[in-house]
Amino acid sequence: MYTEIVMDHFKNPRNVGSIENADGVGQVGNAKCGDIMKIYLKINDDIIEDAKFETFGCGSAIASSSMATELIIGKSINEAVEFSNKAVVEALGGLPPVKVHCSVLAEQAIKSALYDYAQKTNKVIKGLENYT
Ligand code: FES
Ligand code: FES
Repeated sequence: MYTEIVMDHFKNPRNVGSIENADGVGQVGNAKCGDIMKIYLKINDDIIEDAKFETFGCGSAIASSSMATELIIGKSINEAVEFSNKAVVEALGGLPPVKVHCSVLAEQAIKSALYDYAQKTNKVIKGLENYT
């Protein structure tokens, strides 16, 4: 049911934890399953230097957070805002259909953290103009 990559990121999640004085923090929850995901970003010159996560949720949510943080570290904020849950699912080698929403949480948490950064720095990030 779960790929080896999913199991690996679930058992040995990368980038777990928080970042002190993070430049952007985003938290989202899924109303249906009650799972919560929080993403912290360290951003320098509009480049994501570090990303960490705290996820209170299922294994797929943890694997998705782990993979998502790996994928966005080193990216620019403009690249990261284009980031979609499909990239997470692909990098994980697939997720069962009922678990795809777990990867959507990762996309949403990253967008929310980028929006927080934009608010704090008075920047406009293309694609997040109408984000609330
Ligand atoms: Fe129980 Fe997500 S619904 S862990
Ligand atoms: Fe809801 Fe995984 S079951 S995030």
